[in-house]
Amino acid sequence: MTKLLFFAGSARKDSYNKKLARIAHQLAKSSGADVTFIDLKDFPMPIYDGDLEDASGLPENAKKLKKLFIEHDGFLIASPEYNSSISPLLKNSLDWISRKETADEPGLVAFTGKVFALVAASPGGFGGLRGLVPLRMMLENVGALVIPTQLAISFVNKAFNDQDELTDENHKKVLTSVVKQLIDTCTKIHG
Ligand SMILES: Cc1cc2nc3c(=O)[nH]c(=O)nc-3n(C[C@H](O)[C@H](O)[C@H](O)COP(=O)(O)O)c2cc1C
Repeated sequence: MTKLLFFAGSARKDSYNKKLARIAHQLAKSSGADVTFIDLKDFPMPIYDGDLEDASGLPENAKKLKKLFIEHDGFLIASPEYNSSISPLLKNSLDWISRKETADEPGLVAFTGKVFALVAASPGGFGGLRGLVPLRMMLENVGALVIPTQLAISFVNKAFNDQDELTDENHKKVLTSVVKQLIDTCTKIHG
């Protein structure tokens, strides 16, 4: 069965994007998928520095995260938007795991042939949509397939109830179809 990994590009305790990734995780789980939720707060890494890499290779948490990416086929990223782009936490994590651990390792093993679904949430009016554009481009340039359906929730501070559930039927509907398209695409490609 295809293996899925869901996470948010925010380490913040009350992150809206984490809440969204957790709901997507529950949706995938209830449809019978083999899906794991991780928190990037559990994988702290220094900012990428070529001198650091030359001196000591990948940080332990980059190795752990890269291994998880290699072991999974499909991914859902709930990405915050920072100044119209990707959060530094997400970019730095993806940059580290794009690096080879040995000279004979094929390039970009963490991304090649993997399938990604992208969602975003922001208290602002664009819902983080602008940050998904560079994220989609980056993932496609490192050999991944990004599914077309995506969700960006604007004014997200009003989107959840006290149980951290989405209240808007359309948000639920689109998130459900994002998760379904990820599972269907992954199953077609990876079995
Ligand atoms: C440095 C910085 C830049 C931001 N830039 C944007 C932005 O361009 N667009 C936007 O909608 N929100 C922006 N925000 C607000 C974030 O969307 C908001 O902090 C959001 O809650 C972050 O996601 P999280 O709740 O998952 O941590 C920015 C926040 C920070 C700290």
